[in-house]
Amino acid sequence: MSEHLSHAIPEPAADPPAQPVPVPELTADAHETVGDYTVADPVIRTRRVDVFYGDNHAIRNVDLDIGQNEVIALIGPSGCGKTTYLRCLNRMNDTIESARVTGEITLEGEDIYSRRMDVVMLRARVGMVFQKPNPFPKSVYDNVAYGPRIHGIARNRTELDQIVRRSLERAGLWSEVKDRLDEPGTGLSGGQQQRLCIARTIAVSPEVILMDEPCSALDPIATARIEDLIDELRQNYAIVIVTHSMQQAARVSQRVAYFHLGRLVEVGNTEAIFTNPRHRLTEDYITGRFG
Ligand SMILES: Nc1ncnc2c1ncn2[C@@H]1O[C@H](COP(=O)(O)OP(=O)(O)O)[C@@H](O)[C@H]1O
Ligand SMILES: [Mg+2]
Repeated sequence: MSEHLSHAIPEPAADPPAQPVPVPELTADAHETVGDYTVADPVIRTRRVDVFYGDNHAIRNVDLDIGQNEVIALIGPSGCGKTTYLRCLNRMNDTIESARVTGEITLEGEDIYSRRMDVVMLRARVGMVFQKPNPFPKSVYDNVAYGPRIHGIARNRTELDQIVRRSLERAGLWSEVKDRLDEPGTGLSGGQQQRLCIARTIAVSPEVILMDEPCSALDPIATARIEDLIDELRQNYAIVIVTHSMQQAARVSQRVAYFHLGRLVEVGNTEAIFTNPRHRLTEDYITGRFG
């Protein structure tokens, strides 16, 4: 997204207010999403998605499309369901015993919750990058080679070497690690570890990359590096990123989805959301009145 737009958004005050303003209740008109949640050629399509953790109704009736070659930012106050929604898209919520997901989620038209769906394959097609970089306790090389090995993607060592190199190049890390491929991935700096995790994700040629606050553990320089990378990766992948930084959402995304207490309140193109939000809750959130 454009620089002028991210500069127009106020930086959060250095000193947070002593009394955090509570997240307001959903208004009566927040039960239907404002804005067009569809795209012409979606890679992922979600309809009437609800998620429960036991009795806690964490996601309420969310309809949203993810487009090809777009970065869509999920924003909203803490606890409003961004991570939960993101984790529906590659069935990561399957790993939480109390979680129950209903509704319809398709990837290229295929129902991802169908019994025929191979979940290991699904998670290669819809890869995930977490808040805290989580390289395996293996070498740099083996981190990136891990997915191609378990999916039998390379026919021989030469091909595997090529995939590893190409993935590290795409993740903008090759020049920094090409002489350290045998060293542990956990020995890299935080920003390098996060790029290693991105390389590991793209090594299996996903269609979609999910990122849950991927820069929140990184310093500003490493953050800028990842943001540039996200923009480059958009040429080949759809990216869904959760971020609590309005500036980051403005810089990296083309569309923004605003979540509030489990509802998708508003979705629209990034410039429109930040310059002319239509829902009062969206406006109050992006201008820093709460959250
Ligand atoms: N593993 C879990 N088990 C039970 N409840 C959870 C779990 N993860 C999240 N929740 C609940 O679901 C709601 C949404 O949380 P989350 O998706 O993490 O929000 P966000 O990412 O927007 O901060 C919250 O009420 C949270 O307490
Ligand atoms: Mg979260």
